[in-house]
Amino acid sequence: MSFCTYNLPLRVWFLFGFSEKDLESESASWVFLGSVSLQFLILVWLLEFHIAGFLALGAWLASLRENKLDGKVATVIGGASGIGEATARHFINHGACAVVIADIQDEKQNVAASICSDRCTYIHYDVTDKEQAKSLVESTVSMYGHLDVMFSNAGIFSSGTQTVLDFNFSVFNKLFAVNTRRMAACVKHAARAMKEGGVRGSIYSTASVSATHSLGFGTNYVMSKHAVLGLVRSASCMLAEDGIRVNRVLSGTVGTPFLCRSLGVEMEEMEKVVESRSKLKGVPTEKNVAETVAFLSSDKLEFLIGVDLAVDSLYVFPL
Ligand SMILES: NC(=O)c1ccc[n+]([C@@H]2O[C@H](COP(=O)([O-])OP(=O)(O)OC[C@H]3O[C@@H](n4cnc5c(N)ncnc54)[C@H](O)[C@@H]3O)[C@@H](O)[C@H]2O)c1
Ligand SMILES: *[C@@H]1O[C@H](CO)[C@@H](O)[C@H](O)[C@H]1NC(C)=O
Repeated sequence: MSFCTYNLPLRVWFLFGFSEKDLESESASWVFLGSVSLQFLILVWLLEFHIAGFLALGAWLASLRENKLDGKVATVIGGASGIGEATARHFINHGACAVVIADIQDEKQNVAASICSDRCTYIHYDVTDKEQAKSLVESTVSMYGHLDVMFSNAGIFSSGTQTVLDFNFSVFNKLFAVNTRRMAACVKHAARAMKEGGVRGSIYSTASVSATHSLGFGTNYVMSKHAVLGLVRSASCMLAEDGIRVNRVLSGTVGTPFLCRSLGVEMEEMEKVVESRSKLKGVPTEKNVAETVAFLSSDKLEFLIGVDLAVDSLYVFPL
C-alpha cells in the first residue's frame, strides 16, 4: 500500500522528511506513518503547553487587575519623600484615580508631577496645625469627589538621645504634635468625610517597633508611637460599624533619610549598619512598605481590620 493513495499534495510529504520515492515502499510507509503520528503528538503537546501558558498568563493578568486600586482617592501625609512618596507612586501605578500628597517640604512639591501630572497633586500641609487637617480633607473631597484612603505617615525623630534622665519637654511637645496629634486629627477628619460620603474607606498610620518596644534611647519617639497604637486600636473598633478599616503598617528599618538621621549615619553607611544588625539579610526599602499599604487598601481585604502588619528585617537594636 502506498500512502500516496491518500492523495495529499507532495510537498506535505517533503515537510515530514520523506521523498516521493520513499513513499513507494511499504515499510517506508509505516515508518512514515509512525513519524507523522509522533510529530502530531508533539504538536498536540506543544499546543497544550501553550494553552496552559496562556491560561497562566491570563490568571496572572487577572490577579494584577484584582490588586488594582481602581477609582480610589488617597491622601498621603508626609508623601514628599521616603515611604510616603513611594506609596503615592505605587497607588498611581496601581490604578488609583487620584493621590494627594500633603507635606511641608514645598521644595519637593514637583514630586507630585513626577509621579503623575494629572492624577497626583501636592498640597502644603503642616500636621502640627490641627485646623489644616479639616481643610486638607475638604480640599481632597471637593477636588476628587470622595476620600477612600488616608495614609497618615508624616513622622520625625528628635535630636539628642532623649533618655529618661535627659528628657527635654519642648522637644517632646514638638515630636508629639507631629507623630501623635497628627494621627488623631487625620483619623477624625478622614473618618468624618468617609462616613458622610458613605465610603468604606481605609485609614493607616506608619508605625514602628517603637510602638511596642523600647529603643534604649529616643523615649519621646517611643512614647509617640505607643500612643498611636492606642489611637489605632480605639479607632478601628469605633469606626468598624461604618465600614471604615483602621490599620497600622509597621515599618522596620527602611532605608530612608529619616533612618539615616535617626541612626546618625550617611546613606551609604546606613545599609551596612542595617545589614549587620538584621536577622533577615538585606535592607527593606520604602517600596516594600508601599506595597503593603496598597495591598491592605484593596477591596479584596475588606475584613482585615485593626492589624499591625510588619515589614521588617528583624533589626536588633543595640542596647
Ligand atoms: N525609615 C524607617 O526606618 C522607619 C521605621 C519606623 C517607622 N518609620 C515611620 O515612617 C514614617 C515615614 O518616615 P520615612 O522613613 O519615610 O521618613 P521621611 O523623613 O523620608 O518622610 C517623612 C515625611 O514627613 C514629612 N513631615 C515631617 N514633618 C511634617 C509636618 N509637620 N507636616 C507635614 N509633613 C511632615 C517630611 O517632610 C517627610 O516628607 C514616619 O512616621 C516614621 O516614624 C520609619
Ligand atoms: C530643649 O531643647 C530645645 C530645642 O532643641 C533647646 O532650645 C532647650 O535649650 C532644651 N532645654 C534644655 C533644658 O536642655
